[in-house]
Parts: sequence; C-alpha cells; structure tokens
Amino acid sequence: MSAELAEAVRLLQAGKLVALPTETVYGLAADAANPAAVARIFAAKGRPADHPLIVHLPGAGWLERWAREIPPLAWELAEAFWPGPLTLILKRAPGVPDAVTGGQDTVGVRVPAHPLTLELLRAFAAADNKAGPAGGLAAPSANRFGRISPTSAEHVRDELGDAVDLILDGGACPVGIESTILDLSRGAGALPRLLRPGRITPEMITRATGVKVELPGSPDSSASSAQAADAPRVSGSLDAHYAPRTPLRLLATADLDAAAAAASAAGRSLVVLRRQPARSVLAFPATAARVQTRWLPADAEGFARALYAALREADALGAEQIVCEAVPESADWSAVADRLRRAACGAGA
Ligand code: TXA
Ligand code: MG
Repeated sequence: MSAELAEAVRLLQAGKLVALPTETVYGLAADAANPAAVARIFAAKGRPADHPLIVHLPGAGWLERWAREIPPLAWELAEAFWPGPLTLILKRAPGVPDAVTGGQDTVGVRVPAHPLTLELLRAFAAADNKAGPAGGLAAPSANRFGRISPTSAEHVRDELGDAVDLILDGGACPVGIESTILDLSRGAGALPRLLRPGRITPEMITRATGVKVELPGSPDSSASSAQAADAPRVSGSLDAHYAPRTPLRLLATADLDAAAAAASAAGRSLVVLRRQPARSVLAFPATAARVQTRWLPADAEGFARALYAALREADALGAEQIVCEAVPESADWSAVADRLRRAACGAGA
C-alpha cells in the first residue's frame, strides 16, 4: 500500500474526511460507523442533516453488517454489478447510525469500481475489527449541496479545498454521473424501484435477473413518483439538484443556431454544449466571440463522462447563459436526460 493510502486509512480511523475517486464521481468519505465523522461530511457540504448517505463497502461480503432482511435479488445484483455503479437501498442492520440513514430504517450501499478506492476500502475494513456495522465509508458526492458532482480531484480542490483533510487523486471518473439507485427495501412481492437513473439501466437489471424494475411514474407503480409519500428521501430527486450556477436551457438541435444568433445580436454571452457530429471533420459554425461552442461526445456514455466537467467549465467562463442540445429519448440516454433536466430546472426551460 502506498504511503498516501496508509495516511488516508489513518485519517479515516481518526474521524477525518478523505475525498476519493469512484468510477462515477468523487466522494467525500468518512467512517460510516462514526457519527461525529459523518457529521463533518454534512458540515463540509452544507447539506441538510436528514439526507441519507451511501455506505461504500469493499465487497458484498460486508453487506450483512449494514443491512438486514437482504432479499435474494440483492445478492444476484451484487454478483452481477459489483464492484460497479449500482446503489441498493435495503433495510438497515441494527447499529447503523442515524447520521448515515437520515433516521430512516433503510441504508444505501454500494461497492465502487475504482482500484484506488477499493484498495483503500479493503485496508480500512481489514483494520476495523469491531462487531456489527464496520468497514464502510459513508460518501456523498464531494460537492457543496445542490451543485454539480466533481469528476476530477481538481474539481474537489476548487470546491471543498480546506474542508477536506486529504484528496486522493485517481484521475477523471470514467462514468461521470452518479450511480443508479434501486430500492429493494419494500419487502417480498414489491418490485425493485428505480430512485435515480444511472449507467446501470433498468434493462440491464432485468436482463441480469429476470426481474422487472418499477420506474418512477410508471402506470403499474404503487407510487406515482420517486417523491411519493412512501418513497425514501433522495436529495438527488430534488428538482434543483445538479445545477450549474449559470442558467441552462435545453434546446432541440434545430433551434441551436437561432439561439446563438439571437444571443450575439443582443450582445449576450452564451456557451453552447452540443453533441459532436458523427463525422470526424467538424465544420465549426461561424459564431460571434461572445458565443462559445463546446463539443461533447455523441454517444451516451461519452457524453455522461464529459458532462459535469463541461458544465463546470461553462460556469468558469462566466457566460450569461448555457444552452445544451437536447439528447435522444432512448433508454441509453435516460440518466443523462435526467441530469440535464435537473440542471435546467429553475432556468425557465
Ligand atoms: O455514484 C454515487 O452514488 C456517488 C459516489 C460518490 O458513490 N455518491 C453519491 O452520493 O451520489 P450522494 O449522497 O450525492 O447521493 C446519494 C443519494 C442521495 O440522493 C441520497 O438521498 C440517496 O442516495 N440515499 C442514500 N441512502 C438512502 C436511503 N436509505 N434511502 C433512499 N435514498 C438514499
Ligand atoms: Mg450528490
């Protein structure tokens, strides 16, 4: 183990905060079994204390310390998708701190697929030999509450800097948007319910397990949305989440040029985010200096990987508005469409 990882383990054992890379986004981690350490996460993020956090584990073998009444489907999903970007909501085990669950009877757990963080988790857990909930790191995305999740160590440094005791740099996050969240806590007979779309799609879950996934707002859903009265609280389901500072509007491809022309005619600065055309030679449209175009990969996975960095860059450019090309409505784009919808929320689009 590197000296830096040993230092990270030591800090975590001492109740400090360590920012770490995952395959989705960077997390702000603390010992999940230490309520005082978890309280520091909320203070650093400026996040309301009743929002639950995801517990990151070194492997499915640690699941029973954190969850109870684990249905066979949870083990199947763990086998199929862990380590990976899938968070399971399960009934919490006795002794899981309220600070982690937001006082709910459920807990969110996942095994992240990043080599550095897996090594850290294994070392942290190996040194944590108490009975009951142990070996887990509570880690929300390492951004201030309501802002865009960080996908590089530099993003974390810019946004949280001094509030974190150590930032582990594991490079740019390969997935780029937060994990899929699936609620398995509603007991036998209830379908698993999607609470947050991500790289692991309902189709992938059904293909791997043969089980249907209840989507928010689906007609066979007992609840009309993820925010129905019986649904757990998910801060990612708040509309104004994942937002850049700059107002963002989503526009159909055909309307982008007109929007750019209108902005430059009115002397307004604008950043346009577009999907890269399939052909490798780009014909950059002639636009005024106050209109800047950023090209994102044309495939859903590439677009997701680049999206948050592009939004941060657009913010940093200080333009008055961001316009983003609307994405296809197909299932593979649904997680990106979800984040864009939230990013545009409150901007009149
Ligand atoms: O990809 C990810 O999931 C990243 C990386 C760092 O693992 N983490 C992340 O954490 O996105 P955070 O806290 O920003 O979002 C986690 C979401 C929140 O919306 C929270 O409300 C929800 O998970 N959550 C956690 N525990 C829950 C529970 N017991 N019931 C319902 N939702 C829960
Ligand atoms: Mg977050």
